[in-house]
Amino acid sequence: MINNILEKVGNTPLISLKNQENPNLNVFAKLEFYNPTGSVKDRAASYIINTLLSRGIINNKTTIIESSSGNFGIALSAYAKQKGLKFICVIDNTTLPVNEMMIRLQGAEVIKITEPDSRGGYLLNRIKKVKEIVESTDNIYWVNQYGNPLNAQAYYNSLGNEICLETPRQKLDYLFMGVSSGGTITGVSQKVKEKYPKAEVIAVDVDGSIIFGGKSRKRFIPGIGSSLRPDILQSAKIDDVIYIDEIETINSCIELLEKHNIYAGGSSGSVHAAVHKYFKKHQMDRSVNVMCVFADKGERYISTIYNPEWREMVESFNLALV
Ligand SMILES: Cc1ncc(COP(=O)(O)O)c(C=O)c1O
Repeated sequence: MINNILEKVGNTPLISLKNQENPNLNVFAKLEFYNPTGSVKDRAASYIINTLLSRGIINNKTTIIESSSGNFGIALSAYAKQKGLKFICVIDNTTLPVNEMMIRLQGAEVIKITEPDSRGGYLLNRIKKVKEIVESTDNIYWVNQYGNPLNAQAYYNSLGNEICLETPRQKLDYLFMGVSSGGTITGVSQKVKEKYPKAEVIAVDVDGSIIFGGKSRKRFIPGIGSSLRPDILQSAKIDDVIYIDEIETINSCIELLEKHNIYAGGSSGSVHAAVHKYFKKHQMDRSVNVMCVFADKGERYISTIYNPEWREMVESFNLALV
């Protein structure tokens, strides 16, 4: 018996994804959308808020602020509300209405950035706004997922641990994870390399993201990729990076639904596509255990990834670039 659903963070299901084309690949996915607010970000939001309160870094009068266009904003608004803390979430024009609604419904103050920044996105202007508010407000704490070590620690202690313990026959050969703020892969890769030093950690990024030195261009799917290189990644243990384009992501989401009954969010599709792409290039003549993280669910993408008209829009945009 639990008193509040928010206590049920972590211990998400691990599912085996049978791969008929390549019997040497034992692919497993952690279904992070089973977390209380629907994504992997519950782990960071609950850990960060609890740690800050228990260390006395914040108190019950502190305002929490963060720039997030989706899952982290939803998770922080829930855990801040549970602790009676005021939360300001800085979002932008591209935030999906369903995400904005969830953030508002959970009591957060929402500030929406409508002016694009020098790179054509909104992230730099969102962060500028956060800094302005922090400078002019007393007793305020900026979570700063791109640089706060607590973000990586959250995943080191929870998701990283679960992945290490749950990998079948205590054998972990590959780990595939999507990257945006970098917190998840930083914490999980540190834990995994301690327990399985030979495991290969593959970061999954999308075309148009600059995280690993790619060329910046417009991206449509939130939750993966970024228009800045997060500081937190300096302590990540990454062996390789694989790029996926947004059409591959969409196709892969549809495939997950058709073949495995998994109604997954965008970054899960990117990760699944990356596994296929990677092992097409690197043929395995031995059996390998491949762990993946599926960060959120398809519902948040019903008007985008799962909408054929939206897909056509992304396809025409990509064609115009060629
Ligand atoms: C759907 C989804 N996948 C993956 C990630 C990547 O996690 P991180 O920001 O820790 O790199 C996020 C982060 O927001 C996300 O929302």
